[in-house]
Amino acid sequence: MAEKVRQLTDSSGQKIEFREGLEGVIAAASDICFIDGMKGILQYRGIPIEQLAEKSTFEETSYFLLFGHLPTRAQLSDFENRLKAQRGVAPELLRILADFPRHAEPMTLLRTAVSALGAYDANAENSGIDQNVDRAIDLIASFPTILAAIQRIRKGLPVIAPNHKLAHAANFLYMLSGEPPNEYSAKVLDVCLILHADHGFNASTFTARVCISSLSDMYSAITAALGSLKGPLHGGANSAVMHTLMEIGSADKVETYVKKKLAAKQKIMGFGHRVYHTYDPRARILNRYSHKLAEITGNMKWYEISKKMEEVMEKEVGGRGIYPNVDFYSASVYYYLGIEIDLFTPIFAVSRISGWAAQVLEQLRDNKLFRPECFYQGPLNIDYVPIDKR
Ligand code: SDX
Repeated sequence: MAEKVRQLTDSSGQKIEFREGLEGVIAAASDICFIDGMKGILQYRGIPIEQLAEKSTFEETSYFLLFGHLPTRAQLSDFENRLKAQRGVAPELLRILADFPRHAEPMTLLRTAVSALGAYDANAENSGIDQNVDRAIDLIASFPTILAAIQRIRKGLPVIAPNHKLAHAANFLYMLSGEPPNEYSAKVLDVCLILHADHGFNASTFTARVCISSLSDMYSAITAALGSLKGPLHGGANSAVMHTLMEIGSADKVETYVKKKLAAKQKIMGFGHRVYHTYDPRARILNRYSHKLAEITGNMKWYEISKKMEEVMEKEVGGRGIYPNVDFYSASVYYYLGIEIDLFTPIFAVSRISGWAAQVLEQLRDNKLFRPECFYQGPLNIDYVPIDKR
C-alpha cells in the first residue's frame, strides 16, 4: 500500500507536505515492540512473537511487557499470585453494570466500567510510577472478571466469581460459562492473549499515550484506548470478520463475494494493515490454531471459508500488500472456542491491557505532551455577522 503524502499550500503560498493518518511518522522512541512490516516480523522487547506464543504464558508475557525482563520462577509465581488476588471486582461496579440497558454492547460496557473504576480509586490522581504499576496489575487482573460479569449480566445470568485454581485464560472461560474449560481451549485462548498483547503505536495504544501525556490518570488513558480499539478499522474488525464468514456461508461463495466487494471499493474485514505489507505473523499462528480447532470440532466450515478468502484476496490484492491481519483468523478461533461474537473485541482488550499499561508507564517515565499541528484550510479574516443579519 502506497503511503499517502498530501501536498498543501498555505496562505502565504508555501508548499507543505503531511502524511495522512500519521502514516510512517515516528511519534516517540519505545523499548516495547518491534515490527518489520515488510518482512512480517514482530517481537516484544526483542523476543520473536513465535517463541512467546509457543513457550510463554499470558501472565509471563504481561510481566515481561510491564517490567522489561523475563521473570525468574519466584518473580513469576509472585506476579501470578498478585494477578489472582486482584481478580475480584467491587460489588458497586457490578451494581452499576446491572443498571445499564441490556442492548449495550460489551465493549461499551467495558469502557464505561474502566472509567467508573477511576471514580472508586481514591488515589486515581496519583500519577507516581509505582502506584500506576499497581493499577496496571489490577486492571490486567480484573479485565476478564469485568468482561465475564458484563456478559452474564446482559444475559440475565448470575455472575461467577473467579476460580483461583485456574490460570488467567482458563479462569476467564470458566467465568463465562461456569464450566472449567478443557486444557486445549485454555491453551488456545492463552496464545491469543499473548499474540494481541502489544503492537507498537496502533491507534488504541497511541490514544492511551496521548491521553497520559497530559499527565492524566491511568483509568482515563485506558478508557480512551478502549474507545479507540472498539472501531471496526481496529479491534472491532474481529467480530466483523465473523459476521462476514457467516454472511458468505460456504467456501464456494467466497470468490463472488470478495470480487463484488472489491469492485465496489469496499473493505474486506481482517485484511490489510497500516504497517504490515505482508502476512501478519500473528495471523500465521492463528491460522494454524483455527485449522486445528476446525479438525477437533469436526466443523471445517469457518476455516474453509477463511482459507478460501485468503486465497482469493491473495490473487486479487496480494500484489498490493493486502494480507490477513491478526483479526482475521482470531475470529474463527474464538468462534470455535464457543465464544460469542460480541465478546471478540473486548477479548482483544483483555489482552491489550498489558500492552497499553506498559506503554502508558513508558510514556510517563519520559513524558512529552503530544501536541501536533493541523493545517488550517478554512477561510480567514471574515467579519462577524450579527444574528439578525444572517
Ligand atoms: C488491527 O495498527 C495496528 O497495529 C493494529 C493491530 C493491533 O494489533 O493493534 O494490528 C490490530 O487493528 C488490525 C486491523 C483491523 N482492521 C481491519 O481488518 C479492517 C480492514 N482493513 C482496512 O480497513 C485497512 O487495511 C486498515 C484500516 C487496517 C489500514 O488502513 P490504511 O493503512 O489506512 O490503508 P487504506 O485504508 O488507506 O488502504 C490503502 C489501500 C486502499 O486502496 P486505494 O484507495 O489506495 O486504491 O488498500 C486498500 C484500500 O482500499 N485496502 C483494502 C483493504 N485494506 C486496504 N481493500 C480491501 N480490503 C481491505 N481490507
